[in-house]
Amino acid sequence: MSSSAKSGARMLSLGTALPERVVSNKDLEEMVNTSHDWIVERSGIHERRVGGSTAGLAADAGKIAIERGGIDPSSIDLLILATTSPDRQVPATASTVQELLGLHCGAMDLNAACSGFVYGLIAAHGFIQMGHNRILVIGSETLSRITDWTDRSTCILFADGAGAAVVERTEGRGDLHGWHVDSNGALEEALFCDFDGKIQMNGHAIFKNAVLAMENAAQKSLSMANLTPDDIDLVVPHQANVRIVEASCKRLGIPYEKTSMVIHRTGNTSSASIPLALEDAWAEGRVSKGDNILLVGFGAGMTSAAAVITWDGV
Ligand code: UT7
Repeated sequence: MSSSAKSGARMLSLGTALPERVVSNKDLEEMVNTSHDWIVERSGIHERRVGGSTAGLAADAGKIAIERGGIDPSSIDLLILATTSPDRQVPATASTVQELLGLHCGAMDLNAACSGFVYGLIAAHGFIQMGHNRILVIGSETLSRITDWTDRSTCILFADGAGAAVVERTEGRGDLHGWHVDSNGALEEALFCDFDGKIQMNGHAIFKNAVLAMENAAQKSLSMANLTPDDIDLVVPHQANVRIVEASCKRLGIPYEKTSMVIHRTGNTSSASIPLALEDAWAEGRVSKGDNILLVGFGAGMTSAAAVITWDGV
């Protein structure tokens, strides 16, 4: 902890992890009454990864982010794990990840469903303003454990994975220029999972509200950043459905070509989806220093969150 409050933060480095087991749409054809063509046309998903534990995937992604950042793990003073599929009810899965990574710091879970990583990122910037120096933010999920594999309306969508970012104190105002978080608890029944239950979803209600929530969160964060959609170089949306992203981009006036999409190979990995798509864009050389990036997510709750950052990482 540093005693000097009021300081900026930047995202330094990224890491991701996916389980080895690939479940293709053809595999799902053997399990439920569906088809590869239907799944691709309605969601954009071709295959997804399944397996592992939320803590294990989180630790794998976190380790890569720490290594890429070239930092000493002991310099991390907080771990925020966004997850809606913790390994246990108690303790927080973040504590398990802390032990796996050998960190000595505070650790907590954050559940804002698929918006969780963006909530965590914004919270990390706030903690740094209050005196922390380096924070590891991870989104990790094993949704396959809470998916009903006999329900064709949900099992084609959800999957497992993790993405991590090191956020650190920096000179000046930092990389976060605008942000917005929201929740509409009136829509709780549209997507939920009870203890020991499986995910229940009203796909139509989520679809319609997701497009509106993404537009609203994006516009509010752009306005706070004093930027227009034209100023955005890259959009990293929650990977729930290609058609939701297309519709949101259209409403925002941002070309779909500016998005980073990994849903075709990952499915919907909830809080892991935004860091997975951000890392993919970075690995593909689509992210340069100074680029304005819009991260925008929505999920059960119904939560939504957006952040406008300027890339300043490695
Ligand atoms: O992180 C947030 C999580 N959730 C979401 O973002 C989900 C948002 N919703 C969606 O992505 C879409 O609503 C779905 C992909 C879930 C469904 O797409 P849709 O275009 O809304 O399809 P639909 O529910 O209107 O279903 C159309 C038809 C129905 O048959 P009938 O009634 O027209 O005869 C369904 O029974 O497709 C049928 N259907 C399927 N057919 C083949 C539903 N699921 C399947 C399936 N395979 N897996």
